[in-house]
Amino acid sequence: MRIVSGIQPSGRLHLGNYLGMMRPAIAAQNEGETFYFIANYHALTTVSDPSALRRNTRAAAIDFLACGLNPDRGALFVQSDVPAVTELTWLLSVITGMGLLERCHSYKDKLAKGVASTHALFAYPVLMAADILAYRADSVPVGRDQKQHVEVTRDIAMRFNNLFGDVFAIPQPVIRDDVAVVPGIDGQKMSKSYNNHIELFGTEKDTRARIMRIVTDSTPLEAPKDPEQCTVFRIFRLISDDDQIEEMAERYRNGGFGYGAAKKQLFDAVWSFLEPLHRRRAELEKEPDFVDGVLRRGAERARAEADSVLGAARRAMGVD
Ligand code: ADP
Ligand code: TRP
Repeated sequence: MRIVSGIQPSGRLHLGNYLGMMRPAIAAQNEGETFYFIANYHALTTVSDPSALRRNTRAAAIDFLACGLNPDRGALFVQSDVPAVTELTWLLSVITGMGLLERCHSYKDKLAKGVASTHALFAYPVLMAADILAYRADSVPVGRDQKQHVEVTRDIAMRFNNLFGDVFAIPQPVIRDDVAVVPGIDGQKMSKSYNNHIELFGTEKDTRARIMRIVTDSTPLEAPKDPEQCTVFRIFRLISDDDQIEEMAERYRNGGFGYGAAKKQLFDAVWSFLEPLHRRRAELEKEPDFVDGVLRRGAERARAEADSVLGAARRAMGVD
């Protein structure tokens, strides 16, 4: 089985990225060969500061390694190190209907948030389809907001195969339902664009401050509370085991458990979960040659695969 996924280096990574995408992607390394990349070309649709893009691209690769990605089990690389993908994007573009892209929520959401309307933003799903199809993905682990893009990829691949013969494998999106949407500190979907996120590699002070700012309702301390309605509990649940979850839920239901205490308990859980990742990250920062080697080997592996798929697509279309 082939597993492909990417993450944009458009800022520092947060718990939503980790739980929704990185953790399942890392776990999937036990199930097949993985191709994971830092999608810097996608990030260009929203990031215009070159040094920030460069810095965040490398930081995201190190974050992935610190979170437990095993570079011996699969390729980790930077999207732009595989030129065949952008060439494949053009071949796919010529069979991608405007209507298919016009229906994409992500494009409409970004326009609504004030992102500049460019051709690249509109064509974003076609580049993503090329990313996925170039490595013959069977499965694509992503958060729920990316599901539609994987469906678009399937449409494009099936249309191509119908028109030109069987070139592409048809991928499946893999969404983990329990963590499909990680809430942010305001209760909406955690996202750096809402600035409601908890960074994976923020300082202890910032992490605590963010958690203490989680928005809660005005139920008095002594009253019983429904844990499912509370963002503090909803985040706690994602990083705790069954006993810890049940214990916290009981405290909510019994009453006499205030939101301040719940937040403190959440911080302790988050921090003991993050601390080992921070330690591993600090070690990786001291080994730039190791990181370079991982990304170089990953890109070589990815190029070999993407070049072969691109060759097949070109031959099928008559541009060989
Ligand atoms: P952001 O919304 O912060 O810009 P991205 O859109 O770059 O995050 O998401 C990167 C990956 O992380 C995607 O696979 C996305 O589905 C996943 N992801 C991001 N935020 C969340 C969230 N709150 N819950 C679950 N998955 C998420
Ligand atoms: N668009 C994805 C995101 O914002 C990142 C991405 C780019 C991706 N190419 C991909 C994810 C291919 C999965 C497969 O999160």
